[in-house]
Amino acid sequence: MGSDTFTEYTGKFYYLLHPRPTIVVGTVCPNNRVNFMSASWNMPVSEEPPIIALAIGSEAYTRECLDYCGEASLNILSLEDAQLVYDLGSVSGRDVDKVSTFKLDLVDSITIRPPGLSRSLAIIESKVIGKYPAGEAFLYLLQVTKARVREGVADRFGFLFSKGVNIALHGSGRTFYGVGPRVLASRKGSS
Ligand SMILES: Cc1cc2nc3c(=O)[nH]c(=O)nc-3n(C[C@H](O)[C@H](O)[C@H](O)COP(=O)(O)O)c2cc1C
Repeated sequence: MGSDTFTEYTGKFYYLLHPRPTIVVGTVCPNNRVNFMSASWNMPVSEEPPIIALAIGSEAYTRECLDYCGEASLNILSLEDAQLVYDLGSVSGRDVDKVSTFKLDLVDSITIRPPGLSRSLAIIESKVIGKYPAGEAFLYLLQVTKARVREGVADRFGFLFSKGVNIALHGSGRTFYGVGPRVLASRKGSS
């Protein structure tokens, strides 16, 4: 295959890694408000102990809130809530009280102070265990202290996409996708 079959894309390399499951990060902030911010740059990094990484831009109020309270609820919302996911990622908790502006119903967490969003399909409670500068962002490592799923939306293999459950995957800008067809790979060595 010749190199002329490829087009330059370095400036937007990250779109090549989208769509991505998007979470909504709940924190308690220095202004004493609970705040929620959308974050699609998230990933699991360790099972034992359970650790998740989040890239949070330096400018986001959530960065200050994470430093302030050291804990976060990670809320996984349905594709039906894509507008809310977009909205929570488009204004800053520095300027607006997102809980009242977006009429968010909250659910108490069990192991941390920040509450979760009651409309979530799943909520992961976590505590900050590391913070590393990375370009214009900081990479936070969060240890999972509790994870809960809404009844009927997941089994031990994950979300029940075949039963109509779907999660918000962030494409770019205002574009979101749901999870598409299921493909089952052959067992190792059998193809
Ligand atoms: C779908 C979506 C995903 C986003 N993902 C991230 C992300 O992973 N990291 C980040 O720093 N900002 C991300 N943003 C932008 C922040 O959510 C946005 O800057 C937000 O206003 C920050 O809120 P805060 O100032 O209340 O923390 C995302 C925005 C949207 C709409």
